[in-house]
Amino acid sequence: MSSSPKNYQQLLVGVKTLAVVCNQWGDTGKGKFVDVFAEWADIIARGTGGANAGHTISLNGKENIFHLVPSGILHDGDGKINIIGSGVALDPKVVCEELDMLKEEGLSYKNLKISKNAKLVLPQHLVMDRARDTIVDGKIGTTGRGIGPVYEDYVARIGLTINDLLNKDIFVKKLKRNLRDKIMFLKLADQEIIKNIMQHEHLSKGRYWSAENIFDIDAITQNYMRYGERLSDMIDDTDTYLREAIGKKNILLEGAQGNLLSVDIGTYPYVTSSDCSISNLVKGVGLKENDVNLTLGIVKAYYMTRVGGGPFPTELGRDKYEELCSKSGTTKETEKKQFGHPTVNEKDEFLQSIGIRMAGAEYGATTGRPRRIGWLDLALLRHSVIYSGPNVILTKLDVLDECKEIKICHAYEYVGAPYRVGKITLKKGDRIDIAIMDNEIMKNSKPIYQTFPGWQSPLGDIRNFEDLPTNFKNILKFVADQTGIKTRVISVGPDRDQNIFI
Ligand code: GDP
Ligand code: IMO
Ligand code: MG
Repeated sequence: MSSSPKNYQQLLVGVKTLAVVCNQWGDTGKGKFVDVFAEWADIIARGTGGANAGHTISLNGKENIFHLVPSGILHDGDGKINIIGSGVALDPKVVCEELDMLKEEGLSYKNLKISKNAKLVLPQHLVMDRARDTIVDGKIGTTGRGIGPVYEDYVARIGLTINDLLNKDIFVKKLKRNLRDKIMFLKLADQEIIKNIMQHEHLSKGRYWSAENIFDIDAITQNYMRYGERLSDMIDDTDTYLREAIGKKNILLEGAQGNLLSVDIGTYPYVTSSDCSISNLVKGVGLKENDVNLTLGIVKAYYMTRVGGGPFPTELGRDKYEELCSKSGTTKETEKKQFGHPTVNEKDEFLQSIGIRMAGAEYGATTGRPRRIGWLDLALLRHSVIYSGPNVILTKLDVLDECKEIKICHAYEYVGAPYRVGKITLKKGDRIDIAIMDNEIMKNSKPIYQTFPGWQSPLGDIRNFEDLPTNFKNILKFVADQTGIKTRVISVGPDRDQNIFI
């Protein structure tokens, strides 16, 4: 018989500020774990990214997906404060829709606060994003939520903040200034394409279109002032509020995206436009890194996923994915129709990737796109934990319950032409232990695998580490020995209680 399961209280002894971030390309279960730890927290705050994020909380069999509202919101009724911090790119339309959804379901959001300095996403940001998804070797494949353009405007010093929703005259002045060069640029494009983009529901179905000037300033002002009225009581100096709460209240910081999507430490240029690491998360809520007592970095295991373009050395069936799944319009349903129900043990790598995608429900929470699938990559993990530290939560292990064989990539072989990187020149056959964030190298990094027998039994009901199958523990030991990670939690299903605390 096992002893009673450990819970998060033991993990959080002595912790006042906890951060949950992602060590991969996002979608690792941040929403689930922020919801889990929100029970402990007094304040939950997001500090990075925008509505490109899709954070899922599975509760009593129902999925709740949030793009901007923090994943602690389901605890609002218990008096928890949720904060959208100053580093967030905030689209007020999306926030208002999320509030509507909460209201419809009878859920409370009375304690939600929005930083006065959050970056304001405007219609032109969505248009720019959609009009020019940057082409490098291939498309970046953005979420189309205006994230790149809004952060560009911020560093170009022409951005607006949420506070501008509270002062109409200033808003109009800044809006006109902000639109100036964008109108010049967009006038060079085919106007039918731009008009079409502006019919998108995220752009209020054409409401902002002006045949003469592309953007109807009055329509934007009118709608945005309305958003401002709705949000006005929530807009506050949250940076100061959080600084004053440090050490006094239990604070939980919610990361968005993941280190490998970070503009600073990710697989540039196939990244988002903010730094998704812990250091920017704290900055994005007005804090500093040593305010945080414990950072938990999530690792999806023993497979990983990516949405959008960019290198993915361990990807299964990459060429066929490009051909068959990367088209817009491919969804869970169309995939089922096209491929039936492949298993996680298919011999063909592409079919196996579909089997894993279906078993793990790996379809984008923001765009519905099928997520690309590959084996866990320790060369990338070694890079990521440099920034997040060794404490990790492993998620989605139950997805591979039926897998007969599991492969772990523990290093790369460089397979490209000689390439100078700083003081060294990489040559064909060189070994790479820590992934190098240079696109020329990443796309020529071939995984070296170690293969393990799977555990082939269900993990979903296990709550004690000792009860985990030996084959599972063997893989875990290999991963820990190779990377130095300390596994603090193992997630064995989407529900709040499907966790093993170690
Ligand atoms: P986030 O962006 O990091 O919050 O992650 P997403 O919500 O985009 O994607 C994670 C998905 O995995 C969600 O549908 C979760 O409900 C689900 N999930 C989280 N942890 C587990 C787990 O351990 N097992 C399974 N099967 N699903 C999980
Ligand atoms: P969460 O928080 C997965 C990806 C996009 C694209 C790239 C740039 O749910 O983990 P952007 O719209 O940000 O300019 O797109 O980043 N991306 C994500 N992938 N999870 C996310 O968030 C993501 N947010 C952005 O697919 O490849
Ligand atoms: Mg997500």
